Amino acid sequence: MTVQKLTSPAFNLRAVTRPNILLLEPYRCARDDYKTGILLDANENAYGPSIYTDAVASETETAGSVIRAELLAGLHRYPDPHQEDVKQLICNLRNEPSKNDASVKPLTPENLYVGVGSDECIDTVIRCFAAPGKEKLLSCPPTYGMYRVAAQVNDVEVVPINLDLEVPGFPVRTEAVIEALDKDPSINLVFLCSPGNPTASLVDPESVAKILAHPTWNGIVVVDEAYIDFSPPGSSLAPWVTKYDNLIVMQTLSKSFGMAGIRLGVSFASAPVARILNNVKAPYNISSMTSDLAMKALSPAGLANMHKKIAAIVEQRNRLLREFPKIPGVGNFIGGNASNFLLLQILDKPGGIPSSATALKLYESLAETKGVVIRYRGSEPGCTGGVRITVGTEKENDVLLEKVAETLAAIYGE
Ligand SMILES: Cc1ncc(COP(=O)(O)O)c(C=O)c1O
Repeated sequence: MTVQKLTSPAFNLRAVTRPNILLLEPYRCARDDYKTGILLDANENAYGPSIYTDAVASETETAGSVIRAELLAGLHRYPDPHQEDVKQLICNLRNEPSKNDASVKPLTPENLYVGVGSDECIDTVIRCFAAPGKEKLLSCPPTYGMYRVAAQVNDVEVVPINLDLEVPGFPVRTEAVIEALDKDPSINLVFLCSPGNPTASLVDPESVAKILAHPTWNGIVVVDEAYIDFSPPGSSLAPWVTKYDNLIVMQTLSKSFGMAGIRLGVSFASAPVARILNNVKAPYNISSMTSDLAMKALSPAGLANMHKKIAAIVEQRNRLLREFPKIPGVGNFIGGNASNFLLLQILDKPGGIPSSATALKLYESLAETKGVVIRYRGSEPGCTGGVRITVGTEKENDVLLEKVAETLAAIYGE
């Protein structure tokens, strides 16, 4: 099947990639070529993992956990450097909604890079495509703080082009982004977060398409979809990497899958871009435990469970959307509701105006005296009086609603 490429005609992957990365001879191991036999190629410990003794072996096997026993017994071996099986399951998952979209091709493992959480994916992209001290990254505040931190670690300047702070839902100011790209040819990367953190709003796909196709810009757009499974089905732009060579879409198992502890993030990209990302990574960045658990999470049973939990989160999100406005002193929801958190404003008094000082007091008092931790966001652009609250379990939300009401009443009574 041929797919019409819509990439900007100015896109030149060689020119956008740092020269040292282009010249990089990726690390190769014997295991790239030979995976079975008496494995004496990688200086592993042939006597097995220290935590896997005969006692552990019989204990885990009698408990019926044969897979766990196998995993433990194999921990003296380096993990698969390519993670093809995990990648295939991720592709199967993301190909689903685009079944009827003739403008995209099915994703294959060639389109994937897997990292230690999206946080590693973010760092890898910056290391590949922005030269320290020379090239820049554009991001759209209020947004995820790690873009700035990872850029700074890599000595890459950040050009902030705020989201539209005057319009509900914080849309991307597409024309302002394009103007910045026209003005400064050293901007190689544009980071968009969809749904945004802390805005919980999806980025309009037309904005993304416009930047990707901007006829004079040579650079890469990164769309961070960490929370995409909490959005309406079909919202992901991952399949677009088959029609835009200058697009990277990041996802993670940390949120909808509830697997933040295993640290597995994903970048979807055109095959040439994914190849560059894979060349740069440490050879065994994904541990055997992580891939074993990821395979379980991506199995039919794991996916069914994930969907059940998303439905429960959405139900609780709707409850919070209904209940919070009834609490005196809680103002408007200022973000969208496409994620597993809400962004809302706290007022200086019931019926008053948004107040960051009151939001900060609420945040501190909840954590210090009520054992409830939310996130203060009042110092972010456009978020005066803002707090970001993750949707908890039904019981957690019972406590949350009660404690917010109680704490605000106490603050106003002072
Ligand atoms: C927008 C966004 N991207 C990426 C991440 C990091 O995800 P991971 O756990 O995969 O590193 C987060 C975590 O909160 C996030 O909010």
